[in-house]
Amino acid sequence: MIALSDVSVGFDGARALRDVTLSVARGERLGIVGESGSGKSMLGLAMMGMVPDAARIAGEIVLDGTAMSGAPERVWRRARARKVAMIFQEPMAALNPLQRLGETVMEPLLVHQGLGRSAARARTLELFDEVGIPDPEARLRQYPHEISGGQRQRVLIALSLTCDPALLIADEPTTALDAHVALRIIELLVRLADKRRMALVFISHDLAAVARATERIAVMYGGEIVEGGPTPAVLAAPRHPYTRGLLGARPGIGGQTPGRDADGRRKRLPTIPGSVPPLSLLPAGCRFAGRCAVELSHCAAVRPEPYRLPDGRFAACHLLGAGT
Ligand SMILES: Nc1ncnc2c1ncn2[C@@H]1O[C@H](COP(=O)(O)OP(=O)(O)OP(=O)(O)O)[C@@H](O)[C@H]1O
Ligand code: SF4
Ligand SMILES: [Mg+2]
Repeated sequence: MIALSDVSVGFDGARALRDVTLSVARGERLGIVGESGSGKSMLGLAMMGMVPDAARIAGEIVLDGTAMSGAPERVWRRARARKVAMIFQEPMAALNPLQRLGETVMEPLLVHQGLGRSAARARTLELFDEVGIPDPEARLRQYPHEISGGQRQRVLIALSLTCDPALLIADEPTTALDAHVALRIIELLVRLADKRRMALVFISHDLAAVARATERIAVMYGGEIVEGGPTPAVLAAPRHPYTRGLLGARPGIGGQTPGRDADGRRKRLPTIPGSVPPLSLLPAGCRFAGRCAVELSHCAAVRPEPYRLPDGRFAACHLLGAGT
């Protein structure tokens, strides 16, 4: 559905994405994880053709067979009206507080899909029903502040479905929600992806959510994908020191139990020391050098190539190249 090769997004003197290569097939669910500032949202924006004006973007993006690199804004706009949608990280920012929910969802149907008012209204009711909003008629007339966070997220999902996307990018869709509400939203997204054969890119720093929502995972640090592969395999036995640290820092994730002993007791939390440095201060070699507990002398200067493992996984770390 979408393929990125060596995509970089640069700001003055710093790269928010560095040589990102990944692809998502139709109907496939890919998780993107990483600490705050690792470039997850920027990757989502790149897939939408929405990187900030100040940024320079390089590399190839092929969306549903069409090369989008260097495509003018109007080509991206058409793609966003027909193929690819994003649920943005700030749910309240995406909903106009002064606009009734019905109007909000009808607007793109009127403007981009060319429906008349009554058809747009009927389609909005169908979409509300599809995303599990009870009493859709009553919801049409309500305002964002009158409904719960979970219901708001469902409205945003309905809004993202107005273009009937073949690729949906959901940026932290469960972060602001209680655990049980988050679980319902994850179940909904998985159901929608399966039923519509829609590719889903699920961005989250919540590994429990990603474990439940996705089949494949890409772990990001410093604007790069440092490890990737099938979600259960990567979470059960991460190979990159950063992924190991991330998992160690998040105990008891759903389904899997990294961070716990075999008998289920919680292990002492080995948090990753320090935090993501400013982009401009990241080492030229391995981006994780300086924070890595098992760093080698050449790591900061020499960039590790993605090392392919036999089971379809890869990790970019010199230790793997050394056969460790
Ligand atoms: N307009 C901009 N100008 C310069 N740098 C930017 C701009 N927007 C984002 N960045 C930088 O790009 C990097 C990646 O940011 P991004 O928002 O993608 O991180 P994230 O992984 O989504 O983090 P979070 O988990 O906090 O949402 C950050 O270092 C950020 O400071
Ligand atoms: S390349 Fe070196 S610094 Fe980077 S994760 Fe591997 S061991 Fe650590
Ligand atoms: Mg983000």
